[in-house]
Amino acid sequence: MNKLTSHKKLTIIGAGAVGAAAAQWAVSRSSAHEILLVDVVDGVPQGKALDLSQAAPLCGFHGSVKGSSDFADMAGSDVVIVTAGLARKPGMTRDDLLAKNVQIVKSVTEEIVRHAPEACIVVVTNPIDAMVYTAYKTSGLPRNRVVGMAGVLDSARYRTFIAQELGVSASSVSALVMGIHGDHMLPLVRLATVGGVPVTALLSSEKIDEIVHRTQHAGGEIVGLLKTGSAFSTPGLSAVEMAEAILQDQKKVMPCAAWLNGEFGINGVFLGVPVVLGAGGVERILEFQLTEEEKEALAASVKAVQGQVAATGL
Ligand code: 2OP
Repeated sequence: MNKLTSHKKLTIIGAGAVGAAAAQWAVSRSSAHEILLVDVVDGVPQGKALDLSQAAPLCGFHGSVKGSSDFADMAGSDVVIVTAGLARKPGMTRDDLLAKNVQIVKSVTEEIVRHAPEACIVVVTNPIDAMVYTAYKTSGLPRNRVVGMAGVLDSARYRTFIAQELGVSASSVSALVMGIHGDHMLPLVRLATVGGVPVTALLSSEKIDEIVHRTQHAGGEIVGLLKTGSAFSTPGLSAVEMAEAILQDQKKVMPCAAWLNGEFGINGVFLGVPVVLGAGGVERILEFQLTEEEKEALAASVKAVQGQVAATGL
């Protein structure tokens, strides 16, 4: 816990697969002093947290991990990760979840504002770009304190696929996925590098197209295999990576769904863009010049997000 200078509290709402994975990563990485798992299904967050608390002697976690079904227990949280909601089943798109999850995210956000008004909110519930909008509109918080996870996950998948193709460590691959967390996401090809070398110099354009396509459909690939749910390990870690950057004021740059106010020529939607995450939440958006083709691809993302947002009725 020496990375943390003052006492930090992380709450994770939703003790399903993603929430439990996030809690596990947070404990194993000592992301906060206090980790709280909250779920309305009494017994589940308590049981999962009790199990995790017993990992402390094995992983060197010195803080506390608790479960609760009482939202009031999140008082004093610095970051709240929202994973509550239904997950995708085979044949379902992320949009199919919208109507149900908008109600869940709305009521959870009201609880956050009531009990942890100082917290930054990291939204993971799908469809993420519309759910982060729901949390933003419901909370009335400034835009820097509401952020959506997805670019971190999508970029990790993109980096992994590039690394596997080249037989190199995924940590040597640097790459950025912008836009919606959905089929219109934009894995940027010209900015992908391997140890500083452009990926375009190392792989054929056919191979790169294949990797881009696989990245755009990577969530669905896992849903198709699992049959009863969707990915949870890396989604959970991606949310914790973001939460840690805020809790530890790391100023890490990562792609996140941020509220755009003219950046990239886009207004009034949450969309995946590179941001600086620190104690202030989304401290800065790193804007840069896109090519005409990239602008077109991003416009398709905006259109898709706007369709989702209209369906929230907010
Ligand atoms: C995914 O892409 C759960 O949407 C998430 O796996």
